[in-house]
Amino acid sequence: MPSVSDPKLKISPDKDVPSAHTLASELNPDELDALRNALRSVRDLGLSGEHIEIGTAAGGTLVQMLKTFAGGTLPPFWVVDTMTYFHDQLATVKRNLTNNRLDPDSVRFFTMMSGRAFIEAQRNPPNAAFLFIDADHELHGVTRDLQWTCFLQPQGILCMHDYGPGDRLNGVTLAADRFLKRNPHFKKLGLTGSLLVLQKTCSIPRLEVSRLEVYRAEILRQWIKLKRSFRKRWRRAAKG
Ligand SMILES: C[S@@+](CC[C@H](N)C(=O)[O-])C[C@H]1O[C@@H](n2cnc3c(N)ncnc32)[C@H](O)[C@@H]1O
Repeated sequence: MPSVSDPKLKISPDKDVPSAHTLASELNPDELDALRNALRSVRDLGLSGEHIEIGTAAGGTLVQMLKTFAGGTLPPFWVVDTMTYFHDQLATVKRNLTNNRLDPDSVRFFTMMSGRAFIEAQRNPPNAAFLFIDADHELHGVTRDLQWTCFLQPQGILCMHDYGPGDRLNGVTLAADRFLKRNPHFKKLGLTGSLLVLQKTCSIPRLEVSRLEVYRAEILRQWIKLKRSFRKRWRRAAKG
């Protein structure tokens, strides 16, 4: 599988990310089960398009997803990640796959910002069956990544991690709730831990997330940051 990379990306090697050492999934066991069930239902529906993970960390969840197809036909897998989460991230993801007897060449890597990968993907649009969003968790980042839903085929499944209902300053929640309000052709299949599972019921004659929506989220990011910082101070003060 050819990989595409952005030479301008800078690596930040100082960050200590536990999954970089354990190579494990950042999902908890229940969330992983729910993700695997979603993959199985996509397979049972006979949807064979691209399976896309946006944000892979050490590839722990990727390994689990690929293993779901052991003994059967592997659908095309795409991974979109800047690979700057920790030092040597791409090599680590590939090592994780190899350690699990999975072929890194069976995955197409887009080593770049997901926004750029989206533009890249538009040139030859995938007919995706499965989309897992778990990259930038801020409102503008998630909104930008939700643009990828235009590539999902009807009945395709969208999973989002770190959804926290009730938290009005959680970027994933804000983005997902607004997305669902504006896109009633997506139905909620379940929420396990913070893993939200949705299904696209049909195609629509417009993009699910317009450029204007992305701009709106970018403008709101400072306002949310400010509100979060007030909330933190208020909680600290309330504790005494
Ligand atoms: C929370 S981790 C992903 C965890 C992984 N899905 C798992 O279950 O183990 C977030 C990942 O998203 C990537 N990322 C964050 N912002 C991104 C962006 N704008 N474009 C592409 N990748 C991004 C980071 O490099 C990191 O690898």
